[in-house]
Amino acid sequence: MKIEKQPVMVLSVGGSILAPQSGIDTAFIKGFKKLLERHIHRGWKFVIVVGGGAAARQYQAAAKDIGSLTRDDLDWIGIHATRLNAHLLRTVFRRLAHPVVVKDPTRIPKKWKEPVLVGAGWKPGWSTDYVAVRLAKRLGARMVVNLSNVDYLYTEDPKKNPAAEPICEIDWPKFRKMVGSKWDPGMNVPFDPVASKLAHASKLQVVLANGTKLENLDALLSGRKFFGTMIGESK
Ligand code: UTP
Repeated sequence: MKIEKQPVMVLSVGGSILAPQSGIDTAFIKGFKKLLERHIHRGWKFVIVVGGGAAARQYQAAAKDIGSLTRDDLDWIGIHATRLNAHLLRTVFRRLAHPVVVKDPTRIPKKWKEPVLVGAGWKPGWSTDYVAVRLAKRLGARMVVNLSNVDYLYTEDPKKNPAAEPICEIDWPKFRKMVGSKWDPGMNVPFDPVASKLAHASKLQVVLANGTKLENLDALLSGRKFFGTMIGESK
């Protein structure tokens, strides 16, 4: 699969690839920065929306363990974890990134001249995938690239069934049937159901790709063949 160069590339970066259970992956972040810088020099602009990763899950689990909380409380904890990761990434890109992290996708800075804009969680009820879709719509982008540590969408969970098959292309109705329509704080799905509903209605394409394999991400950004799953309109 190949994609064409986009005026602005919206990336939804799973917090679990920046800051997994084992701690902040500085080697990955360094490589990711270097790779994006190379593409920035070729004229790319990036909007990077960052997830909450292990911190979101750990804090949500601790809060649940200590007392009874509402779903909104749990989401707010997750939102603040996404913002911490977003500030980390903004600092990593320093002068290449707009100095303010976008927390509300309906309000994008007017004077955004830097090649990188970093976004984070907004409100309870969905994940940062939804923020990425809202930003893509607002910026007129046709695509969101969702980066995780998984190579493809599979017919089943490959951890549970090793015979699960990778899916290279799928349409929105079939994908939405797979992820369902319900939102749960901290939920782990290939692309959030609320974001999927909006992306489907907006005729956006979503690419699911493994962001930890930087040579694959490089191929994707270079217009070369890469591996991953394309979700889009039915043909
Ligand atoms: P994400 O689910 O986006 O981060 O946000 P993640 O951990 O990186 O997920 P993956 O790796 O992309 O799957 C973490 C949590 O923050 C809350 C939700 O509870 C979500 O599960 N959140 C995030 C919101 O409630 N609203 C937002 O706009 C963003």
